Amino acid sequence: MEPVLSRHFNDSQYRDVDTYMADGGYRVLKSTLKQRAPEEIIQTVKDAGLRGLGGAGFPTGMKWSFVPSVEERPGNRYLVCNADESEPGTFKDRALLTWDPHLIIESMVISGFAMSMNIGFIYLRGEFTEITPIIEKAIAQAYEKGFLGNNILGSKFSFELYLHRGAGAYICGEETALLESLEGKRGYPRLKPPFPATHGLWRSPTNVNNVETLCLVPFILDRGVKWFRSIGNDKAKGPKLYCLSGRVKRPGVYELPMGINLKELIFEHGGGIPNDKALKAVIPGGSSCPVLTAAECDISMDFDSLAAAGSMFGTAAVIIMDETVSMVEALYVITRFYAHESCGQCTPCREGVKWMQDILRRLLKGRGRREDIDLLITMCDQIERRTICALGDAAALPVRSFVSKFRHEFEKGIQ
Ligand SMILES: Cc1cc2nc3c(=O)[nH]c(=O)nc-3n(C[C@H](O)[C@H](O)[C@H](O)COP(=O)(O)O)c2cc1C
Repeated sequence: MEPVLSRHFNDSQYRDVDTYMADGGYRVLKSTLKQRAPEEIIQTVKDAGLRGLGGAGFPTGMKWSFVPSVEERPGNRYLVCNADESEPGTFKDRALLTWDPHLIIESMVISGFAMSMNIGFIYLRGEFTEITPIIEKAIAQAYEKGFLGNNILGSKFSFELYLHRGAGAYICGEETALLESLEGKRGYPRLKPPFPATHGLWRSPTNVNNVETLCLVPFILDRGVKWFRSIGNDKAKGPKLYCLSGRVKRPGVYELPMGINLKELIFEHGGGIPNDKALKAVIPGGSSCPVLTAAECDISMDFDSLAAAGSMFGTAAVIIMDETVSMVEALYVITRFYAHESCGQCTPCREGVKWMQDILRRLLKGRGRREDIDLLITMCDQIERRTICALGDAAALPVRSFVSKFRHEFEKGIQ
């Protein structure tokens, strides 16, 4: 597959506006504003079958069609690019933000046009300090060239774009916590419904999409639905950025078709396991996804296949563990992260995840109690689906899967 998103990753410099334009950048924006109607763009994105790549996999075109029309809801309307990327194991958006800021801007203007939005925000993970000046400069350049602002390229469409930096909270990647944070409030997720499409930023029509999701839109419009659907397998279509980390010879971001076989990804593209160790387990989609044993890794990397196997595609952040990895320690590290990042709004998540961390710590130290393993599973029952946002599930799902699949390792920690 010819890479589209990752062509410039690892260049010595990011593509500034001149390089981007010399490579054909902003060409799709020009033709879209001239030749396409917003409804047609939404239909094209629907026909392509693009699904959100921020973790949940919601069909993008359908989500866009939930945004009410300008006639129904005049006034400010917002497009938010979720660049908070904080899920452990995930570092694909970071690459796009670092090397191709104008691709993100062009994608946002086109997507904003499709939903008749007039204001955009890039919500950038607070820790991405080195990316901040890159995005700031790109936004300034785009204004200078007339790709942002009033009457873009002589059209009737106007779009303002702002960079907003987070302050280092994983929860602010959850789209409604993100909106609260953008409004200047504490990043507490909102109860849904109502959904952001109708009641988003300052209760106005809003759409939140992941960086990678947005960046695929110009390619779909330029190369067509047929091109997009020719990539992938019968279950999932399009190009995808996979993150490989952990015990793998060549960690990094790989752009490959949706639905690639997980083993092929690890052993052919990632070069396999260092020192010829045996593969023990893989988290396929970022730290919140249930773990797969080595025997379960002969699987297509897509939303449906991984759900059928009891795991999740998530952000396609593949974390590889070899035979030397202690599953108790790995799970402790993951749970410590979620305990730290719980916003504290919902009791099951605030108290439960911290408590799971305490139990895992004593199992790790060999001071576990006989009832601890079953207690961990009971706690998952008490946390899953009982919180406002999915952070509770994100913490409980790894615990349930690690403990169920590698129980013998946890039993060794009982005093
Ligand atoms: C705790 C939590 C953290 C999240 N963090 C991110 C994130 O950093 N980036 C992201 O794109 N989506 C994140 N999401 C998913 C967003 O809520 C939302 O589904 C996504 O931005 C929608 O974009 P998409 O449809 O393009 O995937 C997170 C969700 C939860 C529950």
